Amino acid sequence: MHPVKAEEVIAEAYFDHGVKTFSLDTIEELDKIVRATSKAGVAASDLNLLVRIRVSSDHAKLSLASKFGADPRDVSILLFAARQAADALGICFHVGSQAMTPAAFAEAMTLVRDAIVEAAVTVDIVDVGGGFPSSYPGMEPPPMETYFSVIHATFEALPISYSAELWCEPGRALCAEYASVLVRVEKRRGDELYINDGAYGALFDAAHIGWRYPVRLIRQTESRTRPMEFSFYGPTCDDIDRMAGPFELPGDVGVGDYIEVGMLGAYGCAMRTQFNGFGVVDSAVVDDEPMATLYSAEEHERSNVVKL
Ligand SMILES: Cc1ncc(COP(=O)(O)O)c(C=O)c1O
Repeated sequence: MHPVKAEEVIAEAYFDHGVKTFSLDTIEELDKIVRATSKAGVAASDLNLLVRIRVSSDHAKLSLASKFGADPRDVSILLFAARQAADALGICFHVGSQAMTPAAFAEAMTLVRDAIVEAAVTVDIVDVGGGFPSSYPGMEPPPMETYFSVIHATFEALPISYSAELWCEPGRALCAEYASVLVRVEKRRGDELYINDGAYGALFDAAHIGWRYPVRLIRQTESRTRPMEFSFYGPTCDDIDRMAGPFELPGDVGVGDYIEVGMLGAYGCAMRTQFNGFGVVDSAVVDDEPMATLYSAEEHERSNVVKL
């Protein structure tokens, strides 16, 4: 659903991999998609084309508002043009990652509604994108059901056909809780711990955008020392390889200790590089509970909770 793609990539996706769904936020991208998917001068007749509308990231912890998305004032022209080339026409957006309130979706749906009314075209798909939150220290979102009910209510109120489809593209909410990284302490300097992963590894977001993750000391015998707050340094020589945290750990944590950093299933391992020869890891599949969860046992009892 990236609205800026290379023409040969679109062609390969369509002809070699059967991808029929593309997003766009300019007329140029629409022309590109139409050219890349035409054969012997005949335009494809099975495309799902989704026009991405720019919405605010005000309620999100990570903005996706600047880079992509057509200005709401230009969306009706795009919808009209895409309608001519599409089998199914859609409208999509992304409210920013880790949206802390369902109001983010309500506000975006208002813009969607206005655009559809203005364009006066039949819309077959409304794609509310990602942005569904996970749970981190200092960032506990409201229950997922509140997001779903706002989206359903606003979707039902749109001027679209009864057969229109509602899509979403969850990333973080689906996978954040399903991975941890175990790091080892190589040095301690006061309240700073030098560990063997960092800004160029799975802790990219902890370093570059100050994201906080839950941590736990892994030791045979549990520490009885009172917790205190630490920051981390990663394994490279750069000052930027620093995770401010704060990360709360027992006060006696020291060299040779292992620490579990949780909630790294979204944008953790995927961000890892092998810069300076680091980034080589062992992976293990485990079946213990995540450090925090949106999908607890009681929540599974409720009827409108997605079961993973
Ligand atoms: C187009 C698109 N869809 C979905 C996602 C997933 O977003 P999130 O992890 O916030 O749910 C992203 C993330 O960057 C994205 O760019």
